[in-house]
Amino acid sequence: MTTHTYHISNKKIDCIFQASISQLENYAADNAIVILTDSKIASVYHQQLSAYRVISFEAGEANKIQETVDQIILQLLEMEIDKDALLVGVGGGVVTDITGFVASIYKRGLRFGFVPTTILAMVDAAIGGKNGVNIGPYKNMIGTILQPWFILYDYSFLQSLPHEEWVNGFAEIIKHACIKDPVLFASIQQHQLSDYMQDTELLSDLIQKNVALKFEIVALDEMEKNERLHLNFGHTIGHAIENTYQIKHGAAVAIGMVVACHLSESLSGFDLSQTVQIVQLIKQYQLPTGIEMDVDRIIKLVLADKKRAGKDIRFVLLNSIGEAAIQLIPIETIRTHLIEYTS
Ligand code: GLY
Repeated sequence: MTTHTYHISNKKIDCIFQASISQLENYAADNAIVILTDSKIASVYHQQLSAYRVISFEAGEANKIQETVDQIILQLLEMEIDKDALLVGVGGGVVTDITGFVASIYKRGLRFGFVPTTILAMVDAAIGGKNGVNIGPYKNMIGTILQPWFILYDYSFLQSLPHEEWVNGFAEIIKHACIKDPVLFASIQQHQLSDYMQDTELLSDLIQKNVALKFEIVALDEMEKNERLHLNFGHTIGHAIENTYQIKHGAAVAIGMVVACHLSESLSGFDLSQTVQIVQLIKQYQLPTGIEMDVDRIIKLVLADKKRAGKDIRFVLLNSIGEAAIQLIPIETIRTHLIEYTS
């Protein structure tokens, strides 16, 4: 077990790697802990969670909505949970987003931590303090920014992770490499997904690098005014595709990254040979590189994006692999590219 403490604004966040969920005892007594989790984790890991009070909700992105938050809050009230309790989200990104949101609004704020159980949550969703829910087809439109107290990495939860969820998580790892770390990019080029699935040391090293990279960016810009916007590489188009076509977040981000690479070629001088490398890496990790889409529908959602600035979209482009840049791009330019590259 190794603990790294990261600092964001005036908050300290412990990341406990190669840990066991039983080490929650270092943060609170079992009877002060309330686990929030989804129906799948609650049933597969019933034994591991039996020491705690557990509130579970139906698994799936479709349940990342205000109604789920209301149901959880009613259960917390029925359990007479007060401000001394510790909420722990055990699960993937939906669970961590909902837990952070509930913890930031229940009785005006409770302490909370995460035990992420998917690759995506380990390297991305559990880190950064953004939390919240979707409304209609609009992703993450309601929420707060509040940092967890700790993130505890218990890799035994990965034993039940479906293959498609491993693939899903690697989209964010590829994204991190593309925006900030050419060495990480080269290292994942040299491996296959199966290498990481079979070798816990290799995986743990990869996860720790990605955690450090994300914390470094968030620490510079917690409120997402500049540097942190780079983490949205692939997400402007990705979010719109994800909710329209009900595909996995990682698949949608992978397609969004390909669109962003092509836009980067024409707008920021990004080299075609680097687009080819990124497309190859996305395929190597079994992610899609394109989808047939209804461009008008996607553009409507892009216009609702939080990164909109008047008629322009604050879009993340690449200057080179490992170096991202923000450009204001007219919506019509994005439309033209979508028609060109997705038909
Ligand atoms: N919770 C994910 C983030 O803050 O980026």
